[in-house]
Parts: sequence; C-alpha cells; structure tokens
Amino acid sequence: MRCLAGDIADPAAVAAAIPPGTRVVVHLAAVVSAQAEADLDLGLRVNIQGVLAVLQACRALQQPPRVVFTSSVASFGGGQEAVLPDDARQLPGNSYGAQKAIGELLLQDATRRGLMDAVSLRLPTVIIRPGRPNKAASSFVSAILREPLLGLPTELPVGEDFALWICSPRRAVDWFLHAMTMDTAPLGLDRGINPPGRSATVAKLLQALETVAGPAARALVRPAPDPTIEAIVGGWPAAFTAERARRLLGFSEQESLEEIVQGFIAEDLAATRRERGL
Ligand SMILES: NC(=O)c1ccc[n+]([C@@H]2O[C@H](COP(=O)([O-])OP(=O)(O)OC[C@H]3O[C@@H](n4cnc5c(N)ncnc54)[C@H](O)[C@@H]3O)[C@@H](O)[C@H]2O)c1
Repeated sequence: MRCLAGDIADPAAVAAAIPPGTRVVVHLAAVVSAQAEADLDLGLRVNIQGVLAVLQACRALQQPPRVVFTSSVASFGGGQEAVLPDDARQLPGNSYGAQKAIGELLLQDATRRGLMDAVSLRLPTVIIRPGRPNKAASSFVSAILREPLLGLPTELPVGEDFALWICSPRRAVDWFLHAMTMDTAPLGLDRGINPPGRSATVAKLLQALETVAGPAARALVRPAPDPTIEAIVGGWPAAFTAERARRLLGFSEQESLEEIVQGFIAEDLAATRRERGL
C-alpha cells in the first residue's frame, strides 16, 4: 500500500492518486453532515469540488475506471414516517445531503458519457464507528453503543423512539467490495443504490447493548436533547425497501443488532481503547 496525503479538491493531488492504469476508485473523502451544515463553503469545496476533481482525474484515464462513490441516506428527506422505495426522489433537507445528491448526478452523467463506470452507494448510518466521535450529526448513534462498551458515559440527543436506517462496518465493507466488482449492466442509467440496511429505534439499539453487555452498560447512556442534531437527523428517512439492491443486484443482508454489538467487541474495541489511551 502506498499512502498519499492531499486535498481532495486539488485536481493535481487527486490526479496523482488516480494514475494511468487505475481500474477502481473508491471515493470516501467528505465533509460530513453537521460540519457541512455549519460551514457551507467547506462543504461545497470538499463535497462538490472534490467529486469534480475525481471526475476529471478519471476522465484522463485511457480506460474508464469503476468509481464507487459514498452517497448517503441524508440525500433523502421524508423523516421518521417514510419507507422509501427504490425510485424515491432525493429531496435532501440539509446541505450535506444536497451535496451528495449533486455528486451522484455528476457521476451518473460521467458514466453515461463513457468516462467512468460509477456506482453510488447511499450508505445508511454506519454503526458502530471505532475511535472517537466525529462531526457527523449521526455520531451519537455509534457513541451510545461504543462509549458504554468502553465504560464511558455518553449523551443521547434524541428520544428512544427515534428510528434510523443503519448498517454495520462489516456490511459496509462487504457492499464496497461488491460494488467494486459487480456487473453494472443491470443498473442502466440509474447509478444510485439503496443497500439493504436495517431500520432500528434507539430503544432497540440500547436493548441490544444491554443483551450483549448488561444493564450497567445501558445505564451509561443519559438523555440530553439537542434540537440542532434532531433537526438534521429528524429529516432522514428511517426505512427503505431496498428491493433492487437485494433482489436484482446481489447486495448482502444486514446482520442483527446484537451481532453488530458483538462485531464491534470482536474487531474494534481493543483498537479503540489503544487509540484513545483508555
Ligand atoms: N459513516 C456513516 O455513517 C456514513 C453514512 C453515509 C455516508 N457516509 C460517507 O462515507 C464516507 C466516509 O465517511 P466516514 O464516516 O468515514 O467519515 P469521516 O469523517 O471519518 O471520513 C471522511 C474523511 O474525509 C477526509 N477529508 C475531509 N476533507 C478532506 C479534503 N479536503 N481532502 C482530503 N480528505 C478530506 C477526512 O480527513 C476523513 O478522513 C464519506 O463520504 C461520508 O459522507 C458515511
């Protein structure tokens, strides 16, 4: 592996990362939800100029590469009551989601023009993130499970009946690998995919925590309503049908909530402790 550091919005840096002969590009760099909402200029630069830089670098290649783009559930509206079908219109209620939807459209058109072969995965909220909290409005969804597993208290900014569309890191990796190699002919013009995540309420997540780690772990989660966070995540749909990804495109199913907690303990807990000096 060779690591290059650079600004995703800098065309020269991106071209250096996508040299001649590149066959697959996975575009992950982004300014995430709460930060993109707080700083419009930064979001536009990283989330749109960044996609344009990737597009231009791919365009310079002799053979169009497969490009896997990380779009998001946040590119949709609908809120708590929504169960979105595969052809639902993207109507984002925040700048981050709008920037992701714009990225999808740019890459879809580049694909139509034969410049690349793009697949946009609209990731659910990925839990449990290892490491530390980040600037995503959904950061708390991982924190209410991760922090108690580390023995630390944490705050819950929404009610326990709040529902979210989630997936595990393990599932996200599996979907990326599938998107890197899958036959894209069945996609046609429509390059955006809603992968088969799982709808879960905060109460169900906390129940899974208690089942795996006991009531003392659950007791570390304290209610602390936060209207700013609620306003962002409250607009995201909590469920998708995801039939196309499941039945036509061969994306794997999300495992249970208990398995997600157990997966974090098995794969990420020790590393997170080390990283945070706990
Ligand atoms: N984690 C989730 O729940 C989730 C859900 C939906 C979509 N996504 C998308 O998946 C991708 C990865 O998300 P993540 O959760 O790992 O977020 P993250 O914040 O941990 O990672 C984003 C990365 O982008 C990098 N970055 C930011 N500005 C940059 C710049 N100007 N140049 C180069 N790099 C820059 C950051 O350093 C960071 O490493 C993002 O595109 C995000 O929008 C994540």
